[in-house]
Amino acid sequence: MTRGRFITFEGGEGAGKSTQLRRLAARLEGQGREVVATREPGGSPGAESIRDLVLRGSADRWSPVTETLLMYAARRDHIERVIRPALARGAWVICDRFADSTRAYQGAAGGTDPGLISALESFIVEDTRPDLTLMFDLPAEVGLARAEARAGSEMRFESKGLAFHQRLRKAFQTIAAAEPDRCATIDAAASIEAVEAAVWAAVEARLPAHA
Ligand code: TMP
Repeated sequence: MTRGRFITFEGGEGAGKSTQLRRLAARLEGQGREVVATREPGGSPGAESIRDLVLRGSADRWSPVTETLLMYAARRDHIERVIRPALARGAWVICDRFADSTRAYQGAAGGTDPGLISALESFIVEDTRPDLTLMFDLPAEVGLARAEARAGSEMRFESKGLAFHQRLRKAFQTIAAAEPDRCATIDAAASIEAVEAAVWAAVEARLPAHA
């Protein structure tokens, strides 16, 4: 059995990742593949419990370092119980956020030492690295306005202000520029249909073995 493929969706708030993830899952399933559509923080029962802890409450409920550790505790559980078994049986795993979100939110925007984050990434993620990361790029103002319109109870990061979200955008852009083989940038300001077409084009170009 060949290993499946691992695709992550990254970007700021309100970029439309979740809608696009569902559309990509449907397309891949239409090709007869097993698809595991999942998200972080979360994706396994234990990691979903950690999600409730980390995303609710006031903006300063956790320090950036504590958040980093919580994100990585959730990520390890998700990797061990969901992502690795799925890849091993040949499924395609598509995940709404992964390690780049910790680099951007807790690292670049939150101020956690990048050395801590990269150490956690190598010890915890090990070889479970994405084959392709789609970076949903959008001006911070547009993303925040969209996120506020759908406001729910998980608002800790939306409530951190425009400057925080501008740092985030820059951080994701920097990751995409540094790792062009893994990352494809998607213009998330375009229409839902145009974004869907761009996502599909990136998957076909970067992971041609899917044909
Ligand atoms: P989302 O489901 O709306 O994308 O929300 C998840 C939130 O968690 C979002 O505000 C980004 C944040 N987050 C981090 O801060 N660090 C991480 O490592 C991950 C995966 C998410």
